[in-house]
Amino acid sequence: MPQRPVLIAQISDLHIKPPGALAYGRVDTARALERCVATLNQFTPKPDLVVISGDLADTPTEEEYAHLKRLLAPLNVAFAGIPGNHDQRDMMRAAFAQAAYAFPSGPLNQRIEIGGLDLVLLDSSVPGKPHGELDAPTLRWLEATLVSSPDRPALLFLHHPPFKTGIWHMDRQDLQNANELANVVKRHPRVQLIATGHVHRATFTTFAGVPTTICPAPNHAVDLDLAELRAPSFKVEPPAFHLHVWFPGEGFGSVVTHQVPIGDFDGPHPFFGPDGKLL
Ligand SMILES: [Fe+2]
Repeated sequence: MPQRPVLIAQISDLHIKPPGALAYGRVDTARALERCVATLNQFTPKPDLVVISGDLADTPTEEEYAHLKRLLAPLNVAFAGIPGNHDQRDMMRAAFAQAAYAFPSGPLNQRIEIGGLDLVLLDSSVPGKPHGELDAPTLRWLEATLVSSPDRPALLFLHHPPFKTGIWHMDRQDLQNANELANVVKRHPRVQLIATGHVHRATFTTFAGVPTTICPAPNHAVDLDLAELRAPSFKVEPPAFHLHVWFPGEGFGSVVTHQVPIGDFDGPHPFFGPDGKLL
């Protein structure tokens, strides 16, 4: 059967509070998620899956996960979540019990097959800590997962970036054992993308020779303070999400990441009139 392009929308760092509460006393994260869901629902063609790359809740509490589920109920695309440092594994497992987690307890890793593509969702959360780490069972599971079906391209998703951004207070809490992830990735050329969150802003680099991204958030962004001028701060910048499109082709095909702004904007308008001339 011919393979088709696969569209994976990635949203990140939702930080849902109990109803009526604002994050940091200022940001209405629930309203931000509602706008994000509306933009996702309007997108054509419909994405195959939405991956939520961590910090689904904020404190976290069961009430926050219940509120999150109500906010996600109108989403017309299937979704899968990975924990971030603001999540709690058991609460998240209970809230999304239908997911096919690789382990019956502990890290919430998942492998999801979509069309010609494998998505590998890695739990980098460390209970009670802001930084990330892939524990030994997760690293062993990642290796075993990548060894299986070596001809299929794979996209990796995890909350914590495995690279320095230059934002000092976030770099202290990134993926602490990034070298161990790199060692695995380098053995498996089928890894085509590493997609992360945690920093609430669009960032692009390569890691272990693989394109690696941070997804922007629907709410607030971590301030791009590269000069260490301020205490840890946030700004309310234009909200967005990422749309990763995998095109089948030679070898493992190709992956393109689009940034999609959240909201209603003027257009689309045609460039050309009925006579074929530029308007
Ligand atoms: Fe985070």
